[in-house]
Amino acid sequence: MFFDILKKRRSIRRFTDQPIEKEKIDGLMKAALLSPSSRGIRPWEFVVIDDRETLTALSQCKPHGAGFLKGAALGIAVVADRSKSDVWMEDAAIASVYLLLATEALGLGACWTQIRKRNYTEEITAADRVIELLGLPADCAVEAIIAVGYPAEEKRAYTDDDLKWEKVHYNRYGQKKPS
Ligand SMILES: Cc1cc2nc3c(=O)[nH]c(=O)nc-3n(C[C@H](O)[C@H](O)[C@H](O)COP(=O)(O)O)c2cc1C
Repeated sequence: MFFDILKKRRSIRRFTDQPIEKEKIDGLMKAALLSPSSRGIRPWEFVVIDDRETLTALSQCKPHGAGFLKGAALGIAVVADRSKSDVWMEDAAIASVYLLLATEALGLGACWTQIRKRNYTEEITAADRVIELLGLPADCAVEAIIAVGYPAEEKRAYTDDDLKWEKVHYNRYGQKKPS
């Protein structure tokens, strides 16, 4: 079951108009809140967005790679208080991955929208634009926005043939599995 979810999870960028049931939204957030964090600090916060105007504005928070947020039923912004933990970024990324896996488990589709290190305009970062649109505290760190919805596209699941076993090393870099 767990490995089926890992194989079937693909980035979905086209969504139907079907809204997501409240129980499923709660399930997604439960997964995020269960994610591990360094020293158990849980520096993350999540903003669940279903307001169409806000989703449309968020879809323009960087010139490329965010357009699909416009058609998503939900965006989930994964943000963090950087003063709480020096490794907020790892914690926020793990929570984001938990969200992605939970969407697959609940029959939904999702795609990560990278915000950190991206720009809205030459002068304004994508994070600052998201801070403005979501009314986040000004020093908030914005990791990603996960677009979620019922899938309107199908992608093939990964298979064992897709696995790049050459990236796995044993005891020393470059050393292959002893036969
Ligand atoms: C850290 C990270 C950032 C990503 N940022 C974006 C993004 O901004 N826009 C986008 O369309 N996809 C984004 N993706 C999705 C990747 O393009 C996708 O995971 C990759 O092509 C592999 O495809 P798969 O998710 O279907 O396995 C991101 C994925 C990760 C893990």
